[in-house]
Amino acid sequence: MAEQKSIAVLTSGGDAPGMNAAVRAVVRAGINKGMRVFGVYRGYNGLLNGEIEEMNLRSVSDIIGNGGTMLYTARSEEFKQKEAQERAADFCRSQGIRGVVVIGGDGSFRGARALTAAGINCIGVPGTIDNDIACSEYTVGFDTAMNTALEMVDRIRDTAQSHDRCSIVEVMGRRCGDIALQTGIATGATAILVPEVEYNIERDVIARIINTQKTGKKHFIIVVAEGVGGVRDLAKYIERRLGIEARATILGHVQRGGSPTVRDRVVASQMGYEAVSLLDHGIGNRVVVMRDGKITNLDINEALDMERVFDKKLYKIAMSISI
Ligand code: ADP
Ligand code: F6P
Repeated sequence: MAEQKSIAVLTSGGDAPGMNAAVRAVVRAGINKGMRVFGVYRGYNGLLNGEIEEMNLRSVSDIIGNGGTMLYTARSEEFKQKEAQERAADFCRSQGIRGVVVIGGDGSFRGARALTAAGINCIGVPGTIDNDIACSEYTVGFDTAMNTALEMVDRIRDTAQSHDRCSIVEVMGRRCGDIALQTGIATGATAILVPEVEYNIERDVIARIINTQKTGKKHFIIVVAEGVGGVRDLAKYIERRLGIEARATILGHVQRGGSPTVRDRVVASQMGYEAVSLLDHGIGNRVVVMRDGKITNLDINEALDMERVFDKKLYKIAMSISI
């Protein structure tokens, strides 16, 4: 009788709502295809420390609606070394594991590429709230994070409005302004600052506030991506320059938690399923992606070489209607 195929799944890098839904999909799809599926704890560290556990259909019951990741996550400096990658591959072989699904960001995909080179087929699934993976239009967690940010900014607006204040809100996104852009549009922010678009405080913040003041606006929301930063200084500058009260809020990790939205649960399920199908066909070194709204896959090297394209048209729309 042929040996039963074994695969593993891990989550790596920053956690994102919907990672659990992806883990569930991998476990269920794998078992459904007759495979043994192992959960690896704490990212690549689990392969170095032997922290794995065989999953069954019930191991992933009741997790689809949970934030965080039941497999925990980690950033493993050790795994960046070739020796550690070889050791992880040897450990997989010793357990009969022939393929690994890696749910994480592009750093995690570099790890997946290295582990594939060491002989274990890996498939990446984009999971990060930032939506900063060039090869995919969508990353699991983005929708939930935006909706959390939206709710928080709406709350901030209530108090800004009551006091005729300006509120400057920093949302996550170290290198990517997508959360800021979409949250900014959805909350009617007077100005949106993102790392992808060069800005000038006088032109892109102060003049925009003054213009809306002329038509009677008395409270203002400015959404700033983490990668731009400086929200406290910006609040002080606005107070000095315009004589209006300003307050800064950094939303921070609140955006990383919470129950995933429908979109995140469904996309995570589709992507997890696709990853298992590839491993089932003996295919590795690929990343599952969304392109033109469809779930497909790309070679990891090609995927990692791509450059992110910021949606300049959406930014232009935001600037032309938040007036
Ligand atoms: P993300 O996956 O969210 O981008 P990181 O960049 O922190 O997060 O990467 C997550 C983990 O992936 C790292 O801690 C490391 O274990 C692994 N990793 C990142 N870059 C590499 C690399 N060049 N080679 C091997 N492993 C890597
Ligand atoms: O998940 C991406 C991200 O949220 C970035 O926007 C942020 O800079 C980073 O992770 C913070 O991660 P941590 O606090 O886990 O180091």
